[in-house]
Amino acid sequence: MKLITVKDYDAMSEAAAEIIMRQIDSKPNSVIGFSTGSTPTGTYKQLTAFCAQGRVSFKNVVPFNLDEYVGLAPDDPNSYVYYMKENLFDHIDIDPANTHIPNGAAEDLEAECRRYDALLERYGSIDLQLVGIGQNGHIGFNEPSDTFSDKTQIAKLSENTRAVNAAHFRSADAMPQFAITMGVGDIMRAKRIILMVNGAHKAQILDKVMHGEITPQVPASILQRHDDVTVIATQDAFI
Ligand code: PGA
Repeated sequence: MKLITVKDYDAMSEAAAEIIMRQIDSKPNSVIGFSTGSTPTGTYKQLTAFCAQGRVSFKNVVPFNLDEYVGLAPDDPNSYVYYMKENLFDHIDIDPANTHIPNGAAEDLEAECRRYDALLERYGSIDLQLVGIGQNGHIGFNEPSDTFSDKTQIAKLSENTRAVNAAHFRSADAMPQFAITMGVGDIMRAKRIILMVNGAHKAQILDKVMHGEITPQVPASILQRHDDVTVIATQDAFI
């Protein structure tokens, strides 16, 4: 794993946005795996600025998002469709027809998982995948478990994840219990991966992810086996 240590959140966001911009420069129709949550919002702001300055165009970029909550319609402000529009897609020159996010409101969720996998396969592999880690080591919504998942699936959210993410919902009860997530295998098949980590509250888990045993109990630990991972972490994210 290549490590870039930066002084703060803004520097992390800028470093990630620069890598994404260079990726698109070298391949304008790059397939980019986007993530959500509080970690990448600064990166998306930076990419929006680069786009406004004419330094990057998303016209031919194909985004694949990692995950979506089950039961939330795309226009629900807590959905990741809404998040991506609000934080990035509505502010850049992307073709909405190129954007892909699992449909958490699908009637047949298993069929939705297969549809998403088939789409991913059609594009070959993800050129650059952005990921964050949960405090329990999850990537996407692949929670600690006895095995590493492979393809897109329905995941039961852990108590830890529900407690952390409930802050965004009007009440803890409104927080979904399930999500659709790309599998660990899907993430590992990406050609390049950027792992962004911000803040002292991620220090314990980042240490396990980078230096601990590779185990599905810490799903992100499998990134140690990928040959092109760049970790961009703030200096307080180390024990
Ligand atoms: P966060 O979430 O960016 O909101 O900390 C990261 C994650 O859960 O993967």
